[in-house]
Amino acid sequence: AAAEKGGYDSFMEKEINDQPQAVGDTLLGRSDVDGRLTLDELRVSPEELRNVNKIMVLACGTSAYAGQVAKYAIEHWCRLPVEVELSHEFRYRDPIVDSNTLVVAISQSGETMDTLMAVRYAKEQGAKILAICNTNGSTIPREADAVLYTHAGPEIAVASTKAFLAQITAAYLLGLYLAQIRGNKFQGEIKDILADLAKVPGKIQQVLDNSGQIRELAQLMKDTGSVLFLGRHVGFPVAMEGALKLKELAYIHAEGFAAGELKHGPIALIEEGQPVFVVVPSPRGRDSLHAKVVSNIQEIRARGAKTIVIAEEGDDAVKAYAEHIFYVPETPTLLAPLLTTVPLQIFACELATAKGFDVDQPRNLAKSVTVE
Ligand code: G6P
Repeated sequence: AAAEKGGYDSFMEKEINDQPQAVGDTLLGRSDVDGRLTLDELRVSPEELRNVNKIMVLACGTSAYAGQVAKYAIEHWCRLPVEVELSHEFRYRDPIVDSNTLVVAISQSGETMDTLMAVRYAKEQGAKILAICNTNGSTIPREADAVLYTHAGPEIAVASTKAFLAQITAAYLLGLYLAQIRGNKFQGEIKDILADLAKVPGKIQQVLDNSGQIRELAQLMKDTGSVLFLGRHVGFPVAMEGALKLKELAYIHAEGFAAGELKHGPIALIEEGQPVFVVVPSPRGRDSLHAKVVSNIQEIRARGAKTIVIAEEGDDAVKAYAEHIFYVPETPTLLAPLLTTVPLQIFACELATAKGFDVDQPRNLAKSVTVE
């Protein structure tokens, strides 16, 4: 078993450290030197994909957060509406899907019962089903019209890590492919984004190589009773995922919020010493989102929060308000989740380990939930 864990103490640690490879393998062989996507394996004709007028992403747990991240990118690149819904909610609300809807079912295992039932239901309504899945030949891809496999390798730890980054990567490839075949204006940009994606594995490796400081913080915080996570734009689902990891592994009450929602409720939770992780958008991004999130950090800091900031290298503006700051390498805004998620995974894994918990098999949870 020690050999299977590749020298790490747990599968989870191994899988966190496998992430440069997982993302690299998911990208492998899916574009040509001219920067054109080649997703021939999809088994849906370009004609069918051109007729799609709405995308509905269905998933549960961490896979649903991958879908939420992908929504920002696919809407931006394809100008197609993307809805993301938990499979078990979708199935029971009389949803509107038809033959022009592309349902994207995201599942690491391909066996999650709720997602399978949602897929069957959508199929009955005439929707085209595309699965993003990590497990070859599993049920959801077998029942789907098309499949895009994440090539993250087997994920053993119950809490998903490398499959999550691979799902985001695969969903991005799908978004770029749709943009390509639908003839959207920005063909030149696709090549640039692919070039940036190709650099992501190396940047994840840098985050892993610099994880000493986050590990120390996790050790220090092992008796913490509650942690909040704030994020905005693609950082919002990252914050949700950071909170989920801490709940799953360390059994700590943790909640993620959209940073813009702070004054509509969550700020009432801030008292002296409350730890809050803030995922800060790149200062190079558009729309002054960076300034807005920095002002959120000031607001909570003024009320006594212990601010733990994940920011882009070179972002000096956050320094004054951050009790702890973890830098990730520069990358375009839409790709940032592939980097900013990693310190949050490490934090949860390290903290749970410090508490003496089994990070590979957290209590009450199953790797794949095959009952409704
Ligand atoms: C369980 C696992 C999670 C996973 C979710 C969805 O809750 O513990 O890690 O995200 O199922 O699983 P799937 O295989 O459909 O991605």
